[in-house]
Amino acid sequence: MHREPHLTNATLFARREAAIPRGVGHSHQIFIARGENAEIWDVEGRRFVDFAGGIAVLNTGHRHPAVIQAVKDQLDKYTHTCFQVLAYEPYIELAERINAKAPGDFLKKTLFLTTGSEAVENAIKIARAFTGRSGVICFSGGYHGRTLLTLAMTGKVVPYKAGFGPFPAEVFHATFPNALHGVTVEDSIASVEAIFKNDIEARRVAAIIIEPVQGEGGFTVAPPEMLQRLRALCDQHGILMICDEVQTGAGRTGTWFAVEQSGVAPDLITMAKSMAGGFPISAVVGRADVMDAAAPGGLGGTYAGSPIACAAALAVLDVFDKEDLLQRSRDVGERLTAALKAMAARHACIGDVRGMGAMVAVELFKNGDVKQPDADLARRITAEATARGLILLTCGTYGNVIRILVPLTASDALLDEGLAIMADCFDAAA
Ligand SMILES: Cc1ncc(COP(=O)(O)O)c(C=O)c1O
Repeated sequence: MHREPHLTNATLFARREAAIPRGVGHSHQIFIARGENAEIWDVEGRRFVDFAGGIAVLNTGHRHPAVIQAVKDQLDKYTHTCFQVLAYEPYIELAERINAKAPGDFLKKTLFLTTGSEAVENAIKIARAFTGRSGVICFSGGYHGRTLLTLAMTGKVVPYKAGFGPFPAEVFHATFPNALHGVTVEDSIASVEAIFKNDIEARRVAAIIIEPVQGEGGFTVAPPEMLQRLRALCDQHGILMICDEVQTGAGRTGTWFAVEQSGVAPDLITMAKSMAGGFPISAVVGRADVMDAAAPGGLGGTYAGSPIACAAALAVLDVFDKEDLLQRSRDVGERLTAALKAMAARHACIGDVRGMGAMVAVELFKNGDVKQPDADLARRITAEATARGLILLTCGTYGNVIRILVPLTASDALLDEGLAIMADCFDAAA
């Protein structure tokens, strides 16, 4: 029905290989013709259930009608001015609404940018301007982007960092807690303190940045105690605490920001991805006094906070309220977790089922032995899923984690359809 007569996945893939550098990797050799909520149709007319959501961008699904309508309305007014040249109200309203959502009993301000990496870069710029310090502490397995500073901060060499150094200086990695692999919160905090001893004195550290749930790193959850201990450590040394919520934010984990569940208020939070339902925008929100540290002209960007993306983001906020998507996120998470646990009971290779809200993943090991991560099986399962009409994504330091980022707007029937395909894939390939 949705077939594009002259296009096939194979011919498009050949053209892609000829025209586009191989460094832009591909998870699937599928070319989309149309997407709607949690379903897509490829150029050959095949339908797929989408459990990838454009890597956490489509919490409100493909082309949510309210988002599309808001964008159409905005297109009829103006599409670009550059906010620093001619300002517009949607940017301000969006900032006001995000300020109201961010945790912390203090005044807040929000800056808009275009990508997650850009948000992280700007959070570090702001932290350096405020503290007059240079050091940045990040975590092993963390992912913060592909620009040179955010690559320095990313805690995974292959494929992200290899061949691209040298990186900006004064960036250090502590160890992210991981109960499954025997790294306790105590160990993790000790690794931060070791950096103060081995690498840089605490009074020269501007910021410690952490993902409340690591995204690319494997959906590893930082226990609430970890975030609370980090907050205390930052307060002790005058260091700013930044939560990178580019992947966890915008309701994926059952609260608007994942960090809310720990009771901690970071000084700055970065977000992007699902905040505008598929339109490119990112944000840094935080303490007003910190956000105001950069001098006029020090922050911004030509496209940063585009009016079209602001209009889409405002519509996403309305959709969350109207459709109670935070509750839905928790319900989707429970449904996914129950089904994945049932699969784990049948297959020893599934060594862990974990996540927060609707950010859920399974980690695969040979014979269930946590010392033998099985990336090959993760690849086989995702390939099998594609063949059976389900789009899945892998992640994790060892590439052995299968993660689910299905739109929160997907019906229970569609979730069950995708989960049934996943169960069949484990039966066939594990
Ligand atoms: C936690 C986190 N930070 C930053 C980024 C970078 O975002 P972008 O790809 O939009 O630059 C990502 C992207 O996956 C992410 O998950």
